[in-house]
Amino acid sequence: MDDVVVLPHMTVTLAVEGDDQKAAIEAARQGNRLILLVPRIDGKYGTIGTAARLGESADLPTGAEAFMIRGEYRARLGGGQADIGGALWVQADPIVEPEPPTEKTLELAREYRALLENLVESRGVPQVVQFLRAAKTPGHLADLAGYSPDFSTEQKLEVLETLDLEQRLTLLIKWTRSTLADASLKEKIRSDVAEGMEKTQREFLLRQQLEAIKKQLNEGGSDVVSTYREKVAKAGMPEGVLTEVTRELDRLERTSEQNPEYGWIRTYLDWMLDIPWNVRSEDNYDLVEARRILDEDHTGLSDVKDRIIEFLAVRKLRKERGLEVLGGRGSGAIITLVGPPGVGKTSLGESVARALGRKFTRVSLGGIRDEADIRGHRRTYVGALPGRIVRALKEAGTKNPVIMLDEIDKVGNDWRGDPSAALLEVLDPAQNNTFRDHYLEVDLDLSEVLFIPTANVSETIPAPLLDRMELIRLDGYTEEEKVAIARDHLLRRVVKQAGLNPDEVTVTEDAIMKVITDHTREAGVRNLERELGKITRKVATKVAKAELTPPVAITVERVREFLGKPRFDNEVAARTAVPGVATGLAVTGTGGDVLFVEAAATDSNGHGSTVILTGQLGDVMKESAQIALSYVRSHTDELKIEKGAADKSFHIHVPEGAVPKDGPSAGVTMTTAIVSLLTGRPVRSTVAMTGEVTLQGLVLPIGGVKQKVLAAHRMGLTEVILPRRNEKDIDDVPQSVREKMTFHFASRVGEVLEFALEPSANAKSQAA
Ligand SMILES: Nc1ncnc2c1ncn2[C@@H]1O[C@H](COP(=O)(O)OP(=O)(O)OP(=O)(O)O)[C@@H](O)[C@H]1O
Ligand SMILES: [Mg+2]
Repeated sequence: MDDVVVLPHMTVTLAVEGDDQKAAIEAARQGNRLILLVPRIDGKYGTIGTAARLGESADLPTGAEAFMIRGEYRARLGGGQADIGGALWVQADPIVEPEPPTEKTLELAREYRALLENLVESRGVPQVVQFLRAAKTPGHLADLAGYSPDFSTEQKLEVLETLDLEQRLTLLIKWTRSTLADASLKEKIRSDVAEGMEKTQREFLLRQQLEAIKKQLNEGGSDVVSTYREKVAKAGMPEGVLTEVTRELDRLERTSEQNPEYGWIRTYLDWMLDIPWNVRSEDNYDLVEARRILDEDHTGLSDVKDRIIEFLAVRKLRKERGLEVLGGRGSGAIITLVGPPGVGKTSLGESVARALGRKFTRVSLGGIRDEADIRGHRRTYVGALPGRIVRALKEAGTKNPVIMLDEIDKVGNDWRGDPSAALLEVLDPAQNNTFRDHYLEVDLDLSEVLFIPTANVSETIPAPLLDRMELIRLDGYTEEEKVAIARDHLLRRVVKQAGLNPDEVTVTEDAIMKVITDHTREAGVRNLERELGKITRKVATKVAKAELTPPVAITVERVREFLGKPRFDNEVAARTAVPGVATGLAVTGTGGDVLFVEAAATDSNGHGSTVILTGQLGDVMKESAQIALSYVRSHTDELKIEKGAADKSFHIHVPEGAVPKDGPSAGVTMTTAIVSLLTGRPVRSTVAMTGEVTLQGLVLPIGGVKQKVLAAHRMGLTEVILPRRNEKDIDDVPQSVREKMTFHFASRVGEVLEFALEPSANAKSQAA
């Protein structure tokens, strides 16, 4: 038997495995039903075996046969002989226990039994005691060790092979003692640990109480909590807030300094004390003075300034009449500044604050996707902080500042939450007197704040917000306006930044104009300021090196010297030199822009004609492309396009530039590009166009006329084709630009093409 020791007096079930065992069992069955069980440990047979009697058999679920076997007596192995059936017959000399037992064995047996009873009791298995009592003789008791889980197979083998009963019992006593010692050691360790923990816990509680008592005794002194109490008493908090803060103060008092909560509560209290609950600045309602301040800060923009003054006038009147005058409430919609970068939205906001005599702070919303940015994180988060609105309020230090919400059009939303919902609550006069920040967890009154949102484009402002806004548009400046801004504001600033005195540098208007036309191409003045900064820094360097002595006059030549070659040249002429390219106008995030639409045609190879669209095309623009193509295909005769040419596959591409916000206005440009391609007539290099096209070839009106015309002008174009119904919008274009441009108004695509395309080669040669 592999790794199994069966002792006499044991009854076990033996599953028959292998042919040797089968043969032995079969032989025993036919004979006296005795078999000799010999342990085989590590492949080696022992010299002592156990003679056992075969009992009943049963079938195991695995199909093997199993027998009840009862060990009877030890036997020493003698010589053996195999029979034909495969069984091995051995000579077995029985070893019989001495009868009756000696006094000594009886005593050893008593001791062994006592130890065993001790062990099984400590393990809580009293049934085993009954089982042990059943042993009739000392030998029987000793051999029950074969059942014990405490002994290894090797130990059991030793029990089998120790033939002297006294020795056998002594061995078992020794082993059982050590098992018992192990067990009680484990128990001791366990109870020691439990006891120790109790002790430290008790100590901790006592310490906490001690801490609290100490604090009590200290009351009225200069400890942390009472300092807070003093500050809170002076903060002028509204009632609900006061209740909350008092609760936290009480909590602080009860919390040990070692507890992390202590720090969290203090941070919270610090925030609550930093909120300007009851601090206001006095509003200035002197409208003449306000206008003077607006004029001082910004050149031009008279419409915008008019609107702001109007807004202030309404507030003033309401105040005088005793009507409610809060931030947005009762004073109309929220004024929102919309326009391309660098046109002065942010600085205008600052100026409004100055004119009103209010504090100014700015919250940058660009790229915010998480509601928690606006509203803060709940205090259950580690490291939680209030949101940006609360931080802005703290920074302002008054409860009625001007807060600029910069780039409200670039607020995103995704799974982290929708910040625009929180913004809506901030901006809505009906809700913002009870704004809730997740961190502060109290109602905050924002109704006296004047919020001024800004945006580059209005299209991406979330609709519910847009609904509450009154948009004030800053479309960009003409060259003349830019010159004036540079002269009145930018130069002074960059000269100072370069460390020069204003009287040390003079710049001619021609030179400024040169910087504008050759080195910048923008709706606003940010790059202009940057380029002027470059010039003044170079002047400063030369002055420092004594290569120039002030006063220094910046002329057109010096601009060339300091800024190098013009950055922009006449791109339009180069691009439109070949048929298939048309110059369009669009409004993008950076203001008005010129975009080129390219068309190419390939043979369909009998697969039917397809259209491929590439480049920065929005969905609406793709639709415009389809419409343009369908129009061209159904008007080939009228457009004098060769038979079959329009049935080819087309590729339309709008290279570079940001995605236009108003897709359909590229309709006429796309149609023109395709017709130019198919007729071989290039687009005139001085012309730009915009307009939506219907399948019937009608030209529909578009938006952003001013921005588009300014962009065309900036690019050096002199003619603009516009939808007939946009004729009235020309009034928005500043006079100085209007005078320099020629406008063509079209109500049908045919007219557009007539203005836009060079005469055909035939026509030209005929004319020649
Ligand atoms: N009409 C103006 N008069 C005087 N300075 C101006 C005028 N317009 C713009 N500026 C100046 O141009 C710079 C850029 O303006 P600002 O930063 O306010 O632009 P913005 O419209 O907020 O741009 P963005 O959309 O990129 O935030 C500022 O220094 C501002 O003072
Ligand atoms: Mg700005």
